[in-house]
Amino acid sequence: MNGETEVARPTLYDRVGGEPALIAAADLFYSKVMSDDLIRPFFQGITVSAQARKLVGFMTWAFGGSGAYKGRNLDTAHARLVRDMGLTDVHFDAVKRHLQDTLGELDLPSEVIEEATGIVETTRAVVLGRSQSD
Ligand code: HEM
Repeated sequence: MNGETEVARPTLYDRVGGEPALIAAADLFYSKVMSDDLIRPFFQGITVSAQARKLVGFMTWAFGGSGAYKGRNLDTAHARLVRDMGLTDVHFDAVKRHLQDTLGELDLPSEVIEEATGIVETTRAVVLGRSQSD
């Protein structure tokens, strides 16, 4: 013991503003993604509840990091989109930009926005089927 108290750094989730911020971000992000002609076709035929689940999964990655998400592997989740629908970097960049714009509109500090988009960027190779997630 050295007499100092260890204070854990608040998670990105906490620093963004917790659940209220996440809900606001999810709504804004959803409207951006679904009004993008480049991205909307990928969600055709997927039920609204499944879209919402996907969105929460996405936000979990962005705000909590990879360790927080316990759903399907990202490579499995996107394999059909890569194989049958030509999911590629252009689409990844667009989705990433929508997240960046969303967080910007919520007036979050640029440091937080950079951290969130940095986490999303770490998923690129796996989402696009270029590497194994585990
Ligand atoms: C940028 C990083 C991305 C992350 C972190 C991410 C996250 C996720 C997660 C966690 C799921 C699984 C949800 C579940 O099964 O419960 C999922 C599914 C899905 N993602 Fe992504 N995603 C990303 C990029 C993209 C992009 C670029 C597109 C399309 C333009 C996309 C479209 C979809 C669709 C359509 C599903 C549902 C697939 C199905 O149910 O067959 N995602 N995503």
